[in-house]
Amino acid sequence: MKKIKIGFIGAGKMAEGILHAISDKSAVIMAESNPDRAKEMASRHAVKVVSDAKEVVKASDIVFLSVRPQDVDAVAAYLKGMFRPSQTLVSIVAGKKLASLRKAFGSVAGLVRVMPNLALRANAGMCAICASPKADEKALAVVEKILGAAGATVMLKEKDFDAVTALSGSGPAYFAYMAEAMAEGGRKLGLKADVAKLLALQTMYGTAKFLLESQMSLGPFIAGVATKGGTTAAGMEALSPSSFKEIVAQTLAKAAGRSKELAR
Ligand SMILES: NC(=O)c1ccc[n+]([C@@H]2O[C@H](COP(=O)([O-])OP(=O)(O)OC[C@H]3O[C@@H](n4cnc5c(N)ncnc54)[C@H](OP(=O)(O)O)[C@@H]3O)[C@@H](O)[C@H]2O)c1
Repeated sequence: MKKIKIGFIGAGKMAEGILHAISDKSAVIMAESNPDRAKEMASRHAVKVVSDAKEVVKASDIVFLSVRPQDVDAVAAYLKGMFRPSQTLVSIVAGKKLASLRKAFGSVAGLVRVMPNLALRANAGMCAICASPKADEKALAVVEKILGAAGATVMLKEKDFDAVTALSGSGPAYFAYMAEAMAEGGRKLGLKADVAKLLALQTMYGTAKFLLESQMSLGPFIAGVATKGGTTAAGMEALSPSSFKEIVAQTLAKAAGRSKELAR
């Protein structure tokens, strides 16, 4: 069977995360405009890295578009009309809709939009996937398999993507901020900085792992930890009046608003 060739335009942080999940690196070609980054990726992953995105389009069946949002128009103008109808373009770019990608890239028939997150780099990512009606089913299955090897995937409608971008796309930064706040709180209670950071991160990781594996609902889990009269309940009393949930909701609304702005 013919090997499916996978290309990347932009070999930055997210592309590297997805690359980790591809076992056969000989099927991969990446275009990277930053020469230092290109060298770094080629030596770290034994993968072919070129400077010209056209080489990637010529050589690949599935092309991941993994440049920053502000670089998409220039890339699209440079590559316009180059895609063959049999190819699939997978965009991981925040805020770029399928319709605008179709307009920008012209000839490409199969379009897939993905909203990943940085946890891909630890094979624990969360990717939402949405495909255009003309996307090739076999190519879509390959994309799902690659992203599935890098964490969890969910197929969603495009209307949900601003919310996904705000929640799981930007979420790693919010959780890291929470961990930072917990570690700083621990330091104020006398713990060493590195110990406080370890306690915060391992607790975050273990809680998410347990909740995913047990499929326990969040409310009963919280109630189970925060037993009446205990230490957690005392802590939770301070969290509730400070409108923690309201602040989180506002944070996500702001991020979703920015995602909408980028789509214009
Ligand atoms: N980071 C996240 O947590 C996250 C989460 C969800 C989605 N995303 C999306 O993922 C995409 C990539 O993000 P990232 O964090 O991986 O960005 P990044 O680390 O900055 O990587 C992008 C890379 O693309 C290169 N590039 C720019 N124009 C190019 C061109 N014409 N040909 C080849 N390479 C080119 C850049 O080089 P230069 O530096 O020289 O420009 C850079 O090395 C973004 O669109 C973002 O919206 C990111």
